Amino acid sequence: MWCHGKRSAIFAVAVAAAIVASAAAAVRDDLRTYIVHMSHSAMPDGFAEHGDWYASSLQSVSDSAAVLYTYDTLLHGYSARLTRAEAEALEAQPGVLLVNPETRYELHTTRTPEFLGLDGRTDALFPQSGTASDVVVGVLDTGVWPERASYDDAGFGPVPTGWKGKCEEGNDFNASACNKKLIGARFFLTGYEASKGPVDVSKESRSPRDNDGHGTHTSSTAAGSAVRGADLLGYASGTAKGMAPRARVATYKVCWVGGCFSSDILKGMEVAVADGVDVLSLSLGGGTSDYYRDSIAVGAFSAMEKGIFVSCSAGNAGPGAASLTNGAPWITTVGAGTLDRDFPAHVTLGNGKNYTGVSLYSGKQLPTTPVPFVYAGNASNSSMGALCMTGSLIPEKVAGKIVLCDRGTNARVQKGFVVKDAGGAGMVLANTAANGEELVADAHILPGSGVGEKAGNAMRTYASSDPNPTANIVFAGTKVGIQPSPVVAAFSSRGPNTVTPGVLKPDLIAPGVNILAAWSGSIGPSGIAGDNRRSSFNIISGTSMSCPHVSGLAALLRSAHQDWTPAAIRSALMTTAYTVYPNGNYNNGILDVATGRPATPLDIGAGHVDPSKAVDPGLVYDITAADYVDFLCAINYGPAQVAALAKHSTADRCSANRTYAVTALNYPSFSVTLPAAGGAEKHTRTVTNVGQPGTYKVTASAAAGGTPVSVSVEPSTLSFTKAGEKKSYTVSFAAGGKPSGTNGFGRLVWSSDHHVVASPIVVTWT
Ligand SMILES: *[C@@H]1O[C@H](CO)[C@@H](O)[C@H](O)[C@H]1NC(C)=O
Ligand SMILES: *[C@@H]1O[C@H](CO)[C@@H](O)[C@H](O)[C@H]1NC(C)=O
Ligand SMILES: *[C@@H]1O[C@H](CO)[C@@H](O)[C@H](O)[C@H]1NC(C)=O
Ligand SMILES: *[C@@H]1O[C@H](CO)[C@@H](O)[C@H](O)[C@H]1NC(C)=O
Ligand SMILES: *[C@@H]1O[C@H](CO)[C@@H](O)[C@H](O)[C@H]1NC(C)=O
Repeated sequence: MWCHGKRSAIFAVAVAAAIVASAAAAVRDDLRTYIVHMSHSAMPDGFAEHGDWYASSLQSVSDSAAVLYTYDTLLHGYSARLTRAEAEALEAQPGVLLVNPETRYELHTTRTPEFLGLDGRTDALFPQSGTASDVVVGVLDTGVWPERASYDDAGFGPVPTGWKGKCEEGNDFNASACNKKLIGARFFLTGYEASKGPVDVSKESRSPRDNDGHGTHTSSTAAGSAVRGADLLGYASGTAKGMAPRARVATYKVCWVGGCFSSDILKGMEVAVADGVDVLSLSLGGGTSDYYRDSIAVGAFSAMEKGIFVSCSAGNAGPGAASLTNGAPWITTVGAGTLDRDFPAHVTLGNGKNYTGVSLYSGKQLPTTPVPFVYAGNASNSSMGALCMTGSLIPEKVAGKIVLCDRGTNARVQKGFVVKDAGGAGMVLANTAANGEELVADAHILPGSGVGEKAGNAMRTYASSDPNPTANIVFAGTKVGIQPSPVVAAFSSRGPNTVTPGVLKPDLIAPGVNILAAWSGSIGPSGIAGDNRRSSFNIISGTSMSCPHVSGLAALLRSAHQDWTPAAIRSALMTTAYTVYPNGNYNNGILDVATGRPATPLDIGAGHVDPSKAVDPGLVYDITAADYVDFLCAINYGPAQVAALAKHSTADRCSANRTYAVTALNYPSFSVTLPAAGGAEKHTRTVTNVGQPGTYKVTASAAAGGTPVSVSVEPSTLSFTKAGEKKSYTVSFAAGGKPSGTNGFGRLVWSSDHHVVASPIVVTWT
């Protein structure tokens, strides 16, 4: 789960975790699921259907293995439980392209329309979106809570003709749960159950029902209907509305209590594509290996070939460099920034000092008189006592007190349960160096406030040294108009893209901190089992939340420009994104919470989305499926690897007669690699006019520290006489030597009387 909460620790562990063999595998005891990519055209004579060939190929290595899924469109092949030896034997067979072990992926808003400049303007900016839209956003996640008002279909016309999706029945889920807004709900768990055993229906529904909340939150963020009077426990009250409130929603539950398995994700993507979705939203990830081994990248390639826009979360592993996933160039990779909304909760100490934290606590308030204050590290026998781990606090030392707990290891809200169980009256949750000054508001179970590292250190010192420490917490409710905003969330995963450093990622950022959207009815807002509160809406944070913002905006752009490819939609979002504050404050650019300094393109890609500009970008950088195949050739993928990704492209595949270059990929950003000794690199690009006729002039510059990088663009003027016209240009970058690992940054901007088409530049010395 890529929301920035209880599961970030699990995420970190899960990627490395081997899948435990099931108990049934007494003899073939290193069983795991493999995804077998077959060469569709290599089927020998004598087989009536591909399924028969797959079964026969499987039988030749194992007489007991059964096919879990066959895949017919996103890839050709199947998944099955195999031993390592069987998988190796299979990979050596003719007609078998690749055998990939299954990987486990983890899942990684009332004010957002106003913040993005869309409030009340959606219809004006996107005329086609005002009528009941036929654009369908498919969300692969934890399912859906269909009774939420965000799925109300009032005013929607009939389900789009040609839609093939359905509402699958199951535990707690009837086919009648779908309507003209929520037009599909399916679930995929064959791979999950093969690894983990049957779903425990006492814990989660064996159906599309969302018992977690994440999927309901992401799908309603992308395309939820407007709901008046939405709030979480009184916070962030207002109208909750998805980015594309008139688009249709189809949900595909591929994530279960134990994670999201790649065989299920691939089948979910395949079915979503066949159902007829226009946009795929995946707030989950974990694939950082080569694209042909990463199921999301494999599925997304075929989706892109069919014109489907795929948006994915970058991950919550920031602020370290090279921490992102889902970096394939045919995916739109989304990082997270803040809104201009905050939930302050002031902590006042007995020494008169006052610190501002954040909280979504609602309920009985603390007495207004000073309350005894204790550091958890002084109220526990455990060496990890400061973390407020379950059962670690000594009740006599915390009873009736506000307890200062260190953030980290166990879930933030869980610590409140621990304090409450030990008799504490309140909690201050203090960051350590790991989180610095980044604050994430939580719906604490008792009066609690989250504070930054500096405030935390001052409070630790005070609580440990004052003979009678006291504190109090005052909750200030919801504040809007906070500046500066957006700032880049510290957790937002950063570039460079480790798989192909020549493609800059993330592509852009969107709101992902303290987002209000619909929630599951099976779990409280903290997502913790003991939390018996229920709320139709919840406020959570993560790139999981920023990804569906972009998915919804892509749906708006798709309805406004039905002929645009996924690359054109992404280009429009990127080249119109902003990198400096629209109000002119803080003119050094969007700030990064992690450093307090301006963010770089490695943090924010092209910048923060600006949908009102994206609808009319002037020029777009388009990319066809054949161009992406050329890119695969440029990164030296062999025939099997290319075939595993590209199913429908008839492009000339890695011909010995052609030269291929990553620098020729028509991406709306530039990632330049120079040797440490200095050197040059030439990029080629082609822009397509999607606006009125006009002349564009270029400005381009880049620098590392104070040293300029030479950037020359040829030609420096491009004139367009009609829509659809294409013009090409080259950019030559050159610079002297710099220590390996140095980065330089810059921008290349084409401007006309009506449009500004901007691309970020990153230069890396290796
Ligand atoms: C499904 O339908 C049955 C029969 O109408 C009804 O009793 C049940 O409550 C419904 N379940 C849900 C989750 O709506
Ligand atoms: C603490 O500071 C905040 C803002 O700086 C202020 O609104 C609040 O009233 C202060 N509280 C006390 C008790 O001084
Ligand atoms: C903590 O240690 C003290 C002294 O050794 C002991 O009396 C007490 O029972 C311990 N408390 C807990 C909760 O382990
Ligand atoms: C609390 O613990 C700190 C170290 O964690 C220690 O320095 C301090 O003396 C303790 N204070 C009390 C009152 O026990
Ligand atoms: C390469 O080009 C030559 C001459 O144009 C042609 O005969 C040959 O078939 C080409 N080879 C490939 C692999 O495309």
